[in-house]
Amino acid sequence: QPLAIKETLKIPQSFIDRCASLLDNGFYMTGSGTSYHACLSASYAVSRRLGMDTRAVLSSEFVDAVADLEGKTVVAVSQSGETADTLGAIKHAKSKGAKILGITNTLGSSLTRLSDAYLCTQSGPEIGVAATKTFITQLTALDMLALRLGLRRGALSESAYASDMSALRKLPKLVAHQLEGADRVKTLSMRYAGRKDAFFLGRGINVATAMEGALKLKEISYIHAEGYAAGESKHGPISLVEPGFLCVFIAPKDSTRGKIIGNVMEMKARGAYILSLITQGDRELEDVSDDYVEVPEVEEGIYPMLCTVPLQLFAYYIATIRGLDPDKPRNLAKSVTVL
Ligand code: M6R
Repeated sequence: QPLAIKETLKIPQSFIDRCASLLDNGFYMTGSGTSYHACLSASYAVSRRLGMDTRAVLSSEFVDAVADLEGKTVVAVSQSGETADTLGAIKHAKSKGAKILGITNTLGSSLTRLSDAYLCTQSGPEIGVAATKTFITQLTALDMLALRLGLRRGALSESAYASDMSALRKLPKLVAHQLEGADRVKTLSMRYAGRKDAFFLGRGINVATAMEGALKLKEISYIHAEGYAAGESKHGPISLVEPGFLCVFIAPKDSTRGKIIGNVMEMKARGAYILSLITQGDRELEDVSDDYVEVPEVEEGIYPMLCTVPLQLFAYYIATIRGLDPDKPRNLAKSVTVL
């Protein structure tokens, strides 16, 4: 992953700027599965950093969910560039007068051919069915795009842009460091490998991180996992919680931290077992959690990438402890070319 991110960061700024110029008049984002989670994450980043709204829409729902396409751009994200739902969404969008900016890991894919412009993440081939390094490079590329758009729109000053880019450039090292801590996640995974269910909870941009953590766990370990916005528990899901129920909180020190502590307490009060992803040295969250994994303190927008790594490792170790091949989950194909 560090190498893949490093390569993606080499995409020339002038090229990113040309892609960002397609977004000036408003845009939607679309993708499926993990690629949709990248879109969702980016939509939060765009609203927080740029004060601009964009919608992340599941490709399989796009035709029914989006009406206003004339003169807009659709950012279509797909590792393979061959996902039928995503291609269907962009064909529809094109027919309604939208432009397409493709973000893919596969040069020469159908997505690159159908797009007005495309940006290739530089992950190298990804063989395992579960998207891992391609997710992190999608987040990286989308962040680069969002920052450039921020600069174009005047939402970011030159110095804010430079400082955000320099935070992003530290990512390969930070991810390498996170991977060195894999043993801790392995030890924790041994404790949880026999679970039947888990909630993955986050707020703000880390709702997408939580959804991705849950998807990784369910697709390769076959443990039922739900990822959703932590504030939603009280509207229904909390009734499933009984003593010992596993709740994984994505709780780094960002603008949502205060509220997420409240969500941890509400689950704890029902006897849930709390595993938290926290910023290094966050004693308060350490104390209220049964287990925790630390990530270093970084700029708010970098947490989703960093928190994703332990979640991927968690799914990987649990799958292998359960005797499953994490690269070949049942019923799934690397590229889903049917509608
Ligand atoms: O190739 P794509 O990024 O378009 O694929 C989209 C999804 O099928 C894919 O992300 C799927 O959810 C993965 N199995 C997730 O690990």
